[in-house]
Amino acid sequence: MDLKDKKALITGAGKGIGKAAAIALAKEGVHLALLARSQSDLETLQQHLTSTYGVEVFIATADISNKEAVDRAIEDLLAKLGSVDILLNNAGTAQFGTLVDMEPEAWERIIQTNLMGTYYVTRAILPSMLQQKSGSIINIASTAGERGFATGSAYCASKFAVIGLTEALMQEVRKSNIRVTALTPSTVNTELAVNTGLPVGDEDRMMQPEDVAELILASLKLPPRVFIKTAGIWTTNPQ
Ligand SMILES: NC(=O)c1ccc[n+]([C@@H]2O[C@H](COP(=O)([O-])OP(=O)(O)OC[C@H]3O[C@@H](n4cnc5c(N)ncnc54)[C@H](OP(=O)(O)O)[C@@H]3O)[C@@H](O)[C@H]2O)c1
Repeated sequence: MDLKDKKALITGAGKGIGKAAAIALAKEGVHLALLARSQSDLETLQQHLTSTYGVEVFIATADISNKEAVDRAIEDLLAKLGSVDILLNNAGTAQFGTLVDMEPEAWERIIQTNLMGTYYVTRAILPSMLQQKSGSIINIASTAGERGFATGSAYCASKFAVIGLTEALMQEVRKSNIRVTALTPSTVNTELAVNTGLPVGDEDRMMQPEDVAELILASLKLPPRVFIKTAGIWTTNPQ
């Protein structure tokens, strides 16, 4: 499927996987609405994408864990972009620690961002997709949403929940020609991985954000009658 002149909204677009996806989509001629908390990251990317690829790029800052902030930002972006064909729910956060050691506030922040943030953004965009009877929603989950591990209770719970949300919504809207997909990458070389102490660094061994962006593109380019329900992406050469 040709993506030229499609319109995409990406959360967490300032860094890592979201930024790589924004670049990959802009290269295909997709017009973009980008959301994150840091204005400077978004401004730098906006300037790069408009001058390099000639696509329209609109930006808005919001913390996706805050429903009112999400509603305001999405209303603004929707008004500027006009419509949304592709929603990439990518913004997310991670922190690891034993269930007893981790403060309840940290646990809540992870659920509030990864699960509730995905829900808030989707709820704000979905009515326009239902009206146009088309759209693709890709939720970035994780291998942590498929199997639990020690110190991952909050992160795993949030990502298992994102997969559950994805599957339920997929069943709800596929008759409206809306594709809903969960991608489950293993460790990707991004700030999130560095900040949480995951093993990163060696570009030949580590999965890069651009690799995940390739899978996102491949999924979007499938004929509109089909979609990927859940797909993992792993490195052939683990540390
Ligand atoms: N890296 C991995 O190993 C890995 C593996 C599997 C899945 N994932 C998932 O992939 C997604 C992207 O992660 P990444 O590794 O690319 O992380 P990253 O490099 O830290 O980038 C995260 C992006 O999300 C934004 N963000 C974070 N919290 C936000 C909030 N509350 N509201 C709005 N924006 C927020 C950040 O910008 P601001 O800080 O400016 O808001 C940033 O642009 C996440 O959902 C993560 O769980 C990552």
